[in-house]
Amino acid sequence: MELTLSVIKADVGSIGGHTKPLTAMVEKASSRLRQAVKDNLLIDGMAYHIGDDIILVMSHTAGKNDTGVHQFAWDTFIEATKIASEHGLYGAGQDLLVDAPSSNVRGAGPGVAEVTFEHKLSGHRPAESFMLFAADKCSPGAYNLPTYLAFADPMYCAGLMLPKMIKGFAFDVIDMNHADKDSIVRLNAPEDGYKIAALLRDNERFGIDSIWSRTYDEQAAAVSAQRLHAIAGKYTGKDDPVVLVRTQGIFPAPEELLMPYAKAHYVGGGSRGSHVMPLMPVPINTPASGMYCLPIVSALGFSVDKLGQFSAGYIDFFDSKAWDLVRLKAQEKALHIRDQGWSGAAMLPYGELEYGGFRDTIEELMQRFKIREAD
Ligand code: 13P
Ligand code: MG
Ligand code: MG
Repeated sequence: MELTLSVIKADVGSIGGHTKPLTAMVEKASSRLRQAVKDNLLIDGMAYHIGDDIILVMSHTAGKNDTGVHQFAWDTFIEATKIASEHGLYGAGQDLLVDAPSSNVRGAGPGVAEVTFEHKLSGHRPAESFMLFAADKCSPGAYNLPTYLAFADPMYCAGLMLPKMIKGFAFDVIDMNHADKDSIVRLNAPEDGYKIAALLRDNERFGIDSIWSRTYDEQAAAVSAQRLHAIAGKYTGKDDPVVLVRTQGIFPAPEELLMPYAKAHYVGGGSRGSHVMPLMPVPINTPASGMYCLPIVSALGFSVDKLGQFSAGYIDFFDSKAWDLVRLKAQEKALHIRDQGWSGAAMLPYGELEYGGFRDTIEELMQRFKIREAD
């Protein structure tokens, strides 16, 4: 069977600031997913939240960008928005940027990551498993470094030295400043490794769109690399991206994908989406209540049975004491950079300052500059 995994996420309102949705909103999403399975639109589905973003994880046979699946996700976010509005939540409907999506929700606000593959549980894929990273208070470029390291650097992924992976992976890198159509370049690791790094070092402009096995021509990963500010033409919230990664066998193992997150590396985001802050690994359903909207990332692991259903249980990788040290490190790194407030590297450069207001303030001042005439 041609199986598609679709992850569609949006922030449609949160309690007392940009913190977390109401439980009733996530429950509404879960009950709609159960109904969609009964109606045969989906094979399986699950909903959770990270910070103020609701994540829908779905399996089905309708392919990528399917109107039915995307419309279902949109309607689910509309229903959750209604609950947010009734309760007076902050930013109700924040990421729903259009009145109605045309054929799919790409470009309409919600983040989308989808992977389609032949699912037969035999040959080079005797078992199917995948991981889902979901982050809040940051942009898609937050995944550039950890995903590059897991798919292109044997210091982090020893599996790259094995026959099934030694040819490496192809990276489709997207120029996120293009809002109307996707602008993509394909680069092959390992030989284009430095070129990939040359693009991915710029987290705000270039992101990973997808990654492919060069040995088996199978899609390994998809990132929701659509940027809200490019779509809306102004800041409406941070993108808060997801990555869907198939794991094990011909792909990196979960531990290889997780290891780079021990860095708690600095990313663009945090308060007003305009700062540089470390990314802290947390369990799912964690509110965004860390210092200065500390960016957070969660990681879930699933197995998929022969019918395309998710395993009854999932693994929440960062829900473990093993990650406590990294959480402390992230908070220490946050304290260090917050020490310098608005100065230099602590805030994003002008072009990336998210709330229009910061830029309005500077532009108004620019009008007042005058060339000093010589005495
Ligand atoms: P969200 O994008 O998660 O809504 O956060 C926005 C923000 O500006 C927090 O200060
Ligand atoms: Mg929000
Ligand atoms: Mg958010």
